[in-house]
Amino acid sequence: MRVSKFLESAARSLAVRAIAALVMLVGLSSVTLAGEPPPQNVVGPTACAECHKNEAVVWEKTHHFTTFHDLPRATKADDITKKLGIKRIKAEPLCLSCHFTQAIKDGEPQPVAGISCESCHGPGAPYMKVHSSFSGKKKETESPAERDKRWADSVAGGMIRPAMLYELAKNCYSCHIVPQEKLINVGGHPLSPFELVSWTQGEIRHNVWYTGGKSNPEATQNVKRKMYVVGAAVELEESLRAVGKATQNATYATTMAQRAQADAQRLNAISQALKLPETDEMMKSVRAVHLRLNNDAELSGLADAIGNATKQFVTNYDGSTLGAIDSMIPGPDQYKGKALE
Ligand code: HEC
Ligand code: HEC
Ligand code: HEC
Ligand code: HEC
Repeated sequence: MRVSKFLESAARSLAVRAIAALVMLVGLSSVTLAGEPPPQNVVGPTACAECHKNEAVVWEKTHHFTTFHDLPRATKADDITKKLGIKRIKAEPLCLSCHFTQAIKDGEPQPVAGISCESCHGPGAPYMKVHSSFSGKKKETESPAERDKRWADSVAGGMIRPAMLYELAKNCYSCHIVPQEKLINVGGHPLSPFELVSWTQGEIRHNVWYTGGKSNPEATQNVKRKMYVVGAAVELEESLRAVGKATQNATYATTMAQRAQADAQRLNAISQALKLPETDEMMKSVRAVHLRLNNDAELSGLADAIGNATKQFVTNYDGSTLGAIDSMIPGPDQYKGKALE
């Protein structure tokens, strides 16, 4: 297997480029902010909760909710902001982009909540009315064609539905990989491990709409199979992009490179078990990777290719034929946080 070659080349090329890269410090201003949606179209979680009360009850028990109040008071946050020369967390675009939801209030973008509904499902203004309208009829009288059009219009408005696993996972990882070099190297911000099945099925789980709030079931086995593959592929995609932004041979570059290596191994195991054209395609890109500093263009290209194969994978399978990976999928003892039953 040529994955091992990929692993070796990672360590070697990072070391070779180290000296040239030391002089290239990045400023916060040059950083692209992933994570939070632009505030113009954000309606805020209270508007969603008018109909989705049960989902909001679950959300209010999560770290995504509590960070709004707790982060500015956390000692660890003080430590990071001191090192970066930041005065107020809730006024700092960098912290705002991942820890808070911003909406327009009194004509200005302002933090209104922690990480909320629209951080994961997309800013609501363009789809909120249409997705819930049943095409102006009752649920029972809406025709299948009208329903399909309603969902197509909602997605065109930027709605990320639960079945859109690729887009959902991209959102999780855009925050959870923490692809910000200075924040890590200078600020000492914590780095987060992440896995899509175990991190969606614990405290985050809110499958309470279609049960009318009567229960909060886990995702089905078919969905978990797809999630496991998509999680591994998107983590690799996003780690490669993160390495692409690395300019210094320091914690950020080495941690992101190690992460990409681990992801490549995980994806390789999946690909060997499933033997699908889509996972073969992903591995073809993996084998072309050279992990080194200042290699954004090449790594972004390979990340794009992995992303395209992942989108194909989500469309082409319903999960029922993916049983060969069942032994790899994390079980309840590994779920992150406690789900509300
Ligand atoms: C006026 C009531 C109402 C509001 C407000 C509302 N929703 Fe919904 N939502 C619904 C209804 C009704 C459905 C189910 C439609 C169906 O069964 O076809 C739904 C379904 C959903 C789904 C599941 C989609 C799927 O593919 O099954 C998500 C996710 C969702 N809403 C998110 C949101 C978010 C995020 C907001 C706030 C930006 C929001 N909703 C605001 C009524 C509402
Ligand atoms: C790219 C996204 C991203 C950015 C930007 C970001 N954070 Fe974080 N932060 C995270 C994630 C994800 C976690 C959770 C790590 C975990 O729990 O595994 C986290 C965790 C933390 C924690 C630990 C929280 C706890 O409860 O122990 C602190 C403190 C923190 N961040 C402060 C900051 C500050 C201050 C800024 C701005 C200078 C900032 N973060 C910017 C994503 C980000
Ligand atoms: C951290 C990201 C995240 C946040 C925040 C979030 N969701 Fe979700 N939502 C998801 C994921 C992922 C799923 C699918 C989970 C699964 O299949 O197990 C989902 C599923 C849903 C569903 C379908 C539920 C069902 O019964 O099948 C609805 C409706 C929904 N979310 C609405 C909301 C609303 C309203 C909020 C805010 C109160 C919210 N979500 C906050 C990620 C999120
Ligand atoms: C907008 C950025 C953002 C997005 C999108 C996001 N998260 Fe988070 N998440 C965070 C931050 C920041 C924290 C840490 C909050 C804190 O403790 O201060 C966190 C914490 C968590 C935790 C709690 C971790 C712990 O230490 O106990 C879980 C679980 C989690 N996220 C799962 C998810 C999942 C699953 C998704 C996608 C469906 C997702 N997140 C999407 C930023 C994000």
